[in-house]
Amino acid sequence: MSLSRKKSIATLLAQAAGGDKGLKRTLDAKSLVALGIGAIIGAGLFVRTAAASAEAAGPAVTMSFIVAAIGCAFAGLCYAEFAAMIPIAGSAYTYAYATMGEMTAWTIGWALILEYALGAATVSIAWSEYLNNLLGGAIPYEWCHSPLEVSQSGVHGIFNGPALIILLLLTLLLIKGTQESATVNSIIVFVKMAIVLLFIGIGWQFINPVNHVPYMIPEGTPGHEGFFLHGFGGVVKGAGIVFFAFIGFDAVSTAAQEAKKPERDMPIGILGSLAVCTVLYILFGHVLTGVANYTEFKIAGKEASVAYAIQKYMPGYEWLGTLVTVAILAGFSSVILVMLMGQSRVFFSMSNDGLLPKLFCDLHPKFRTPYKSNWILFAFVGLFAAFIPGSMAGDLTSIGTLFAFVLVCVAVWIMRKSDPNVARPFRAPLVPLVPILGIIVCSGMIIALDTLTQVTAFVWMLVGFGVYFMYSRSHSKLNS
Ligand code: ALA
Repeated sequence: MSLSRKKSIATLLAQAAGGDKGLKRTLDAKSLVALGIGAIIGAGLFVRTAAASAEAAGPAVTMSFIVAAIGCAFAGLCYAEFAAMIPIAGSAYTYAYATMGEMTAWTIGWALILEYALGAATVSIAWSEYLNNLLGGAIPYEWCHSPLEVSQSGVHGIFNGPALIILLLLTLLLIKGTQESATVNSIIVFVKMAIVLLFIGIGWQFINPVNHVPYMIPEGTPGHEGFFLHGFGGVVKGAGIVFFAFIGFDAVSTAAQEAKKPERDMPIGILGSLAVCTVLYILFGHVLTGVANYTEFKIAGKEASVAYAIQKYMPGYEWLGTLVTVAILAGFSSVILVMLMGQSRVFFSMSNDGLLPKLFCDLHPKFRTPYKSNWILFAFVGLFAAFIPGSMAGDLTSIGTLFAFVLVCVAVWIMRKSDPNVARPFRAPLVPLVPILGIIVCSGMIIALDTLTQVTAFVWMLVGFGVYFMYSRSHSKLNS
């Protein structure tokens, strides 16, 4: 049995045709763009913008957004080519199965658990924190913290109740139906976009041009001595920090099997959501660093940076600070929703191929959603969310994502050579230049992540290989 055995394109396309027993095709281009924005705008924008400008980029965090967006665009173009060509639920996992073989596909499927399942857990813990903030700390400490956390007054956490509740609600919604989930997602996206636009529109009048001069942190600024802590180097480091804010556009591709016209709507969904968010992010960064000076985000405005800037520099608009918290809660909810959905769709494909037990692809008799998978995911993600502190998982989410991006770029390039004649409704431009640039930029960001994250991800992958050799390899449908 070869580790590089592949699934043929013909088999994949037959699977995509699906018949009426598979997932339902209910999503149009608008829902797909909303799905992308749903997964993209979350903690990254509201928390990391200020962090990137204070630590490395200064007001030029707007340029960091551009650099990160260019990196994502290379990968996004490759995703779009694949998602239009092979409209199947598994995203990067499926593409790797067709191009680099089973072992690589398994590896990427396993890495995607870091992105989607762990990502959902991390964001649900942050959701709980912000909810308690909005409620003025009304939830007792022990019921909204993991047992591994202790408050300043010595109270031990028991479990994170709000995180579990939001996961439960979103799981129920996902089981009810993809169309229903997409509708709720679209409402949430509307709310959070409206609030982001309000902040940009109102904040624009409070920009103090002095805060934007000089635009990049100048050489010789105390505390910014290293190459990556000022000037253009700082912009690049800032891009690494705000990369998290872009994670999610790839989740659109996991819904390919539920798109009405995947060959047209997948590229629109993936690239459209990326484009909309990039513009919003640049404007948001411009306003935030114009209203408050970036140096303030080092200390005073570090945590709730946006609320801080509003309260201190936008008199009369304190209500906007509360709305921003609402936008953050809404943003977090849709990020969790799309991440949970993405994860269950990757499991769906892996299980269809025999690499995971069959219950992951059992569909609900009425709703035709992978409900058993949704429940298992709830238990798995919920365990993390309830009992583990939130600080742990953000960078692991990034590394899992970047790894997937690199492999998708490689896969596009390979498939242009191995199957030049397959119909490609959307073609990434300038292949192999675009994939190569995608590989370089994303690998660079992986290398720039800290060693603990890299080692933890490595150990996670070793566990994955164990599962592959003990279970998946012998159960693969390619054996039959
Ligand atoms: N892009 C998502 C966020 O910023 C993961 O929360």
